[in-house]
Order: sequence, then structure tokens, then C-alpha cells
Amino acid sequence: MTRVFSGIKPTGPVQLGNFLGALRAWVTDQHRAESMFCVVDLHALTVPQDPADLRAATTELAQLLLAVGIDPATSTLFVQSEVAEHTQLAWVMECTASFGELRRMTQFKDKAGDGDGGTDSVSAGLFTYPALMAADILLYDTDEVPVGDDQRQHLELTRDLAQRFNHRFGNTFVVPRATVPPVAARVMDLTDPTRKMSKSSESPQGTVLVLEDLDSVARKIRRAVTDTDNEVRFDPATKPGVSNLLAILGACEGADPRVLADRYTQYGPLKADTADAVVELLRPVQARYAEYAADPAGTRAILTAGADRARERASAKMADVHTRLGLTPPA
Ligand code: AQP
Repeated sequence: MTRVFSGIKPTGPVQLGNFLGALRAWVTDQHRAESMFCVVDLHALTVPQDPADLRAATTELAQLLLAVGIDPATSTLFVQSEVAEHTQLAWVMECTASFGELRRMTQFKDKAGDGDGGTDSVSAGLFTYPALMAADILLYDTDEVPVGDDQRQHLELTRDLAQRFNHRFGNTFVVPRATVPPVAARVMDLTDPTRKMSKSSESPQGTVLVLEDLDSVARKIRRAVTDTDNEVRFDPATKPGVSNLLAILGACEGADPRVLADRYTQYGPLKADTADAVVELLRPVQARYAEYAADPAGTRAILTAGADRARERASAKMADVHTRLGLTPPA
């Protein structure tokens, strides 16, 4: 059976891009593949976090994953830091990756920015985290990794690291591939459609949150930045704002954004339909979230059982890695 693994960071409230680009695919994948989904809290540490906030965000994110439809009877849902093998294999992956490979990761360049002192003040973890991500995936003999478009480069690195390790030490890791949705793989910020919508970005009007008040969701979409020529056409390069709305609507309706464009001659109706479609998509998720949020003990039990299942697989893989590398087998 195909094996699927993917993760999401508890770095802020989940936004529409996370939902359309990744989480919806997780929900459908779990019915055709052996699936593992992970709240990757260690990745959140690449930028400073308040401990109480991180703890709360981790639980809330798990509850949101349950609310969007991850079924713990079908999928393994767990928190990364509860399975120590992730950090153990991450070190091996750091020693398999080259400095140059990590330096070429565009997400590092974007997130490190060019503030005072360049990259001097960002954490070393921000630089090396693609090695941890590779470890997350390779621990579980993963075939497919459902992700948004921004993670393609990290998946390519993961493939390279798996192949390099296999070449040096014999066949150890399955070489995984990214699966990216055909529509809305990169949802853009509503106020600056040249920038990806992000959980941690400081663009409240440009970011739609999955748990946001639905009137506010509709308002933000109706006020999305478009352009002045008033022609509805799917062309992300020259019409990023309109194309973003068409992609969002297409993802909600399961339709091709190019075909949808023919339905509209003006921006107003496109914005109104997109707002309605997103509101109807989020409404049931919000209702289910309220139920899971009211049962923290139930969430904890699901996560503990998930971590136990994940640890069983991860420890077998780590023992194999130790043997191949000439390390003492783990206790
Ligand atoms: N705008 C997006 N459009 C489509 N997919 C997206 N994803 C993120 N943003 C978009 C996908 O969501 C999954 C989980 O993302 P993550 O939490 O691991 O980190 P990220 O990619 O860095 O997402 P954010 O929201 O931008 O988080 P911050 O601001 O904390 O860095 C991934 O599959 C991702 O591709």
C-alpha cells in the first residue's frame, strides 16, 4: 500500500493556503494510502516561540486537523517531538546534506531576509531545518508527501539525500515524491498577490484564517486586491490577484480556474462567489473544531496513541540506520 506522510508547523493560526494546498489532500489521501500526519513542533523552534503559546498551538493544530477530517482510526496523527527518532535521523541527514545544498534553499533566503547583519542573527535551525524535514519523511518509508508548491524544493532535497545515503550505505530509504494539488497549490496573499499567504505573515487583511469569523472571511475576499483593467482571465503572471481568486474558487468547486474565468465579465461577481464558496467550505470545519476543542483529553489520547504507533516504525528504521553507519545500535 502507498505510504503518505506530511506535516504542518504550529506557528500560528492555520490559513486558507494550508487548507487548500495541503490539508484537503491529506483527508482524501487517508482513504487510499497508509497515512501519517504530524504536527511538526520542532520546526516551529526555528524562530523564537513562547513555551505556553507553543504548547497551546500544538494542541489546537491537532484539533484543527481532526476537524478538517483526519480520522485517527485510519491515519496516524502525532506530534513530532514525542518521537525522538526525528531528531536522531535529522543529525544523520545534516551530515548527508552539503552546506551548499542548504544555502540554496529559497525558503531560507526568504525567511532569513536581509535585515541588519544579514543572516547572522537567525537560528542555525532555520538553515538546517530541511534536513529535519527530510528525516521526518524518510523515517516512515514514505512514497508520497502531499504539500503545497512552496515545499517542492525541500522535497527535491529529501530525494537527493535519500538517494545519496542509499548509494553510500545500501538501500535504506524509500525515495519519496511530492504530490501537489492541481489548483491552489500556492494561495497568494489577498492584499499583495505576489506574496504567498502565510500563517506567520503580518498581513491580517491578506490572510484568511480557517477559524476566522465568517463575515470577516467574506469581507477580506470581497476587498481582495485585483487590478484596474477589469478583465477576468486566469494569468498568474500578469493578473495575480484575479488569478488567485479564480484558483481559490476553483479549489472550492473542483473546477479549472481557466474555465471559471469564462463565467465572469466583472470582478464584483467573482469576488462575491469566491467569498461564498470559501465561507461554505469553512463553516463545517469551524463547527467540528468547536467539538474537538471541548475535549482536550480526547485529543491527548489520540496523539499519545499516534506517537506510540509512529515510534514503533521510526525505531526500527533508526536501528537499521545505526547498523549501516557503524554506530552502536540504539538501546
Ligand atoms: N499559501 C499557501 N498555498 C498553498 N499551500 C500552502 N502551504 C503553506 N502556505 C501555503 C502548505 O501548507 C502546509 C503546511 O505548511 P507549514 O506549516 O509546514 O509551513 P509553511 O509552508 O511555511 O506554511 P506557512 O503558512 O507559510 O507557515 P509559516 O508562516 O509559519 O512559515 C505545507 O504543505 C505547505 O506547502
